[in-house]
Order: sequence, then C-alpha cells, then structure tokens
Amino acid sequence: MVASALEAGWAGVFYKTICLQDIQEVSPRFDAVKRADSSFAGFRNMEQLSENPVEMDFDILRRLKQNYPSKIIVASIMGQTEEQWIELAKMAEEAGVDAVELNFSCPQMRLAGMGSDVGQNPELVTFYTAYVKRSVRIPVIPKMTPNVASMTQFALSAHFAGADGISAINTIKSVTMGADVNGKRIVSGYSGSAVKPIALRFILEMAGNPIMPGLQLSGIGGISTWHDALDFIQLGCQNVQVCTAVMQYGYRIIDDLIDGMQNYLASRGVSRLGDLVGEALPLFVRASELDRTTVVYPVINRETCIGCGRCYVSCRDGGHQAITFGEDRQPHIVGSKCVGCHLCYLICPTGSIGLSKRVPKRK
Ligand SMILES: Cc1cc2nc3c(=O)[nH]c(=O)nc-3n(C[C@H](O)[C@H](O)[C@H](O)COP(=O)(O)O)c2cc1C
Repeated sequence: MVASALEAGWAGVFYKTICLQDIQEVSPRFDAVKRADSSFAGFRNMEQLSENPVEMDFDILRRLKQNYPSKIIVASIMGQTEEQWIELAKMAEEAGVDAVELNFSCPQMRLAGMGSDVGQNPELVTFYTAYVKRSVRIPVIPKMTPNVASMTQFALSAHFAGADGISAINTIKSVTMGADVNGKRIVSGYSGSAVKPIALRFILEMAGNPIMPGLQLSGIGGISTWHDALDFIQLGCQNVQVCTAVMQYGYRIIDDLIDGMQNYLASRGVSRLGDLVGEALPLFVRASELDRTTVVYPVINRETCIGCGRCYVSCRDGGHQAITFGEDRQPHIVGSKCVGCHLCYLICPTGSIGLSKRVPKRK
C-alpha cells in the first residue's frame, strides 16, 4: 500500500502506529456521518494500532526506505512504559526511517496509560519525549490529541523536552449512533472534513505562540484538497498529512493536491511552497481587536437568483427578518434591518448573493 502511494506521487508516509501490545481490533470499526451525496462529512473509527508483528512492520519500513530513498518514511510508535518507548524508537532508527512520530493521541486505546492518556498529561509528554530524544538521533515528532482545552502546554512540554516538531491533530472523541460491536458502543475518534476547522484552531494556537518560534508543525485533520492543505500551510505547517480522505477516495487525490497547489503558486508568482508557511498568522487577532464600526451588506444578483426563498426563510427564522419575499417570488433586502451577518450569502444555493464594499454601520 505505501509503495503504491509513493509511486502515485505522495512525498512520504507516517506509517500506522507500531506497538508491542496485542491489539485485536473490533468489527465493525468505522461509522460515518454522511452528506446528501454520500461522501463523509465526518468519520468515526474505533481502530487502535497495527496488528502486524513488530518485526514485520519495521521490516516493511526498512524496505520502503531502501526502495524509495528520496521519500520521507516516518515510523509512528506507541509504548506503555519508558522501556517500550525507547525500544520501539531504537527499532525505528535501526530500520533506517527518517523520523519517529510519538503517538500520544489515539483516543480509544483498550489499555490504560497509552495514546491520549499520555497526550492529556504534560508530565508524561515531557518524560516520554525526553526518553526517546535521548535514545535516538533521528527527529522526534510527538503527535498531539485535540481532546484538551488548549494544546499549548502539551506542545510546550514536548518542545522543552527536545521534540523536533509536532504533529496535530489526532481524532476528536465523538459519539455516532451506528457501528455496534455485538450491541455495544464506545466513544471514539472523529476525523475527516468536519474536524478541519478544529485542527486549524490547534495549529494556530501553536504556530502563533511566541514561546515556540519556528516550531515545526505537521498538520493533519480533514485535509482532502489542495486548498485544505494550503490552509494548514498558511497557518504555519511545514508539511501536511492525509488519512480519512485517502480512505474515501484513494491515493489518486495526490494529483489534485499537487496540481492545485502548483497552479496556486503560479497564480501568486511564488516558486517555493515554504514561502507561504505561516503567512496567514498575522490575520488573527483577539476579539477585542476586530472592527465593530463597519458592515458588508449582501447584494442580490437578479439574473441568477432562482427565487427559491431559502435566504428569506433563514433570515426570517434564524436571522434579523431583513429579507422580504412577496408575490414576485424575489427576495428583497430591507436595509434598515440588515446587520450584514452573511447568513443569506452562505445559504444561497446558486451563489446569487454577493457582497457590497465595507461601509460604516448605520446609526
Ligand atoms: C481508521 C483510522 C486509523 C488511524 N490510525 C492511526 C494510527 O495508527 N496512528 C495515529 O497516529 N493516528 C491514527 N489515526 C488518526 C489520523 O492519522 C489523523 O490524525 C486523523 O484521522 C485526522 O486526520 P484526517 O481527517 O485526515 O483523517 C487514524 C485515523 C483513522 C480514521
């Protein structure tokens, strides 16, 4: 599988997490929240780690690095004790991989003291990162859990323990009502498009933190298109990972990721993707710093409006009753009531609501 992905054009792999425990996965192990077109809005999994014998996984990684020396091969590992973290990290290094990712973040481990149990405990993040750092020379990249209020203290713990970078995010603890395992269910990890804004928020929190300037970030969570990847890069990620979208659409999505990004770079006259890393960070300010004196009003395009009335219904029942919809079956904006919230703009199914230039608020 990994060789096929690399042949298809992927730059590298963060390989399925390797551990020393007996894993025994359940069936079924996935559930999805679907959109009308049956694509996944979000995806819930109950999977843990690789079920392969440890030696087999490291042998696969060894052969991948031998056969694809220019590709980046990262071993993801998870221990339960200091000794296990060190043993796995050393095996990874001996296999010749480029870096080791520390899985501090799987939220559905059967055994205590593993996965997100570690990522939710700053002392354990420090200890295990430091133990691994002392044991190997290759870069060490802890992978963080989003099942915390703030990622900063955990990222700082990893950073000060010598981590070379951070991967984020792993899956978000969630409940969906499908995927019974013999009539029983668990809380488990959510991924896919739905989690992207949450992943971006954690990336912003870390990349924008002045105590960790230049922190290397590997962004993951809901990426399926080149534009998704760009969002992570503009917020400070040096590279990105994709999981759920590959499970849905296959390795071929790399074509869109590469072509789209190349076209975008050409359109901006930028030759190095690295030049875009973090360029959106200055846009983010505190709520107290936003302009609260001006408005951008919606403008209806009569040529393309199909008179469906959805803007009217949304504004009437969920907005400011600032759209009328009479016998002409056309929406009309009531300027004195419109607050410029853009609910109608977002609801319109035909893109027939445009935006005015920013003007001072009416008194
Ligand atoms: C089926 C499945 C298995 C996963 N297994 C692992 C794993 O072994 N190690 C790990 O660090 N993350 C694992 N993850 C988490 C993903 O690597 C990723 O962090 C998360 O799904 C968010 O990215 P995405 O929206 O692109 O899937 C898994 C996710 C899924 C859906």
